[in-house]
Amino acid sequence: MALVDCVHALSNDDICILPTETVYGLACSAFSAEAISKVYRLKGRPSTNPLIVHVLNHSFAEEISFTNEYSRKLAKAFWPGPLTFILPKKKSIPDEITAGLNSVAVRSPSHPLFRKILEQVQLPLAAPSANPSNKLSPTKFENAIAAFGKNCPPFLDGGQCDIGIESTVLNLTSTSPSISRLGPISKDAIEKVLGIQVGCEKTILKQTGEIKAKQSPGQGQRHYSPNTPLFLYSTMEQMLQSNAINESDILIMPRAKPSLLSPAKKIHLLYLSSTGEPKEITKNLFKVLNDADKLKQKRIHASLFPSDDGLLSAVNDRLSRAATERF
Ligand code: TXA
Ligand code: MG
Repeated sequence: MALVDCVHALSNDDICILPTETVYGLACSAFSAEAISKVYRLKGRPSTNPLIVHVLNHSFAEEISFTNEYSRKLAKAFWPGPLTFILPKKKSIPDEITAGLNSVAVRSPSHPLFRKILEQVQLPLAAPSANPSNKLSPTKFENAIAAFGKNCPPFLDGGQCDIGIESTVLNLTSTSPSISRLGPISKDAIEKVLGIQVGCEKTILKQTGEIKAKQSPGQGQRHYSPNTPLFLYSTMEQMLQSNAINESDILIMPRAKPSLLSPAKKIHLLYLSSTGEPKEITKNLFKVLNDADKLKQKRIHASLFPSDDGLLSAVNDRLSRAATERF
């Protein structure tokens, strides 16, 4: 689809798939109840799970939400980029976006194509990840086509998303900011900018990958799941010694290091990176899980990373939610 057609669709109560720097989004005007309902229907998303609204900058955020000193400081440091704020909403934002909550999620994406669209439509755009509810987020437009099939709306091709996992979500509705979804911007980085300690509302991930009780409507424990059952191990060593690995299973390895495995079993090996670098692993996480699904085998095996309070904690969070079984 050409950019001009996207702008036309979004200005006329329609939806399309747009690239962001994190994952592809299923976009619609935040002011169109009709388009919003198309997004919920196509995703099969429960109406209780609110949408993120995308804006060009902090001034636009002020038009739809009550911003504050924290959001101003953080936007200066991290926008445009993968940090979403939950802020008290203004009346202009319809209840359909926020699932009836009096807060709204806002972020300013850095992807040049998404920004061009925002400039031209002059509307805030809601865009949840472009996947059926609870399934893998798409980091290439082909993933969205595979997931939605003949119902897939028109899309803009922006190549593989640079970051590869969804934005960090930070709740700024009270005087104590807290993270409600781990993501590319770390707790540490946020604390450095604000000069205060920041909580982790619900997604505090222990070294073991255990997830504490949830509060954010979209942070259900089972999420980001491949269609193939995913077996998750605490360490790579544990995975490699597992008796649960059968012929034709898929093993997801952090980096290309074939010598670690005995070639005795006929298994599929997929690599998250060539270097073991957290950025590369994060970028490829959903791509590799999507590729694993395409192989249509019985099981995927993967292991958690030693936590680093940064990108790899967010990767562990996604893996933990994607897992069918934990070892
Ligand atoms: O990187 C991203 O954030 C991507 C790209 C497309 O921008 N979008 C994305 O949207 O991941 P979605 O809808 O898949 O995730 C939005 C998360 C959900 O967990 C939702 O529950 C939460 O944000 N959320 C949205 N509005 C909220 C609100 N008012 N209060 C609390 N959580 C909210
Ligand atoms: Mg999502």
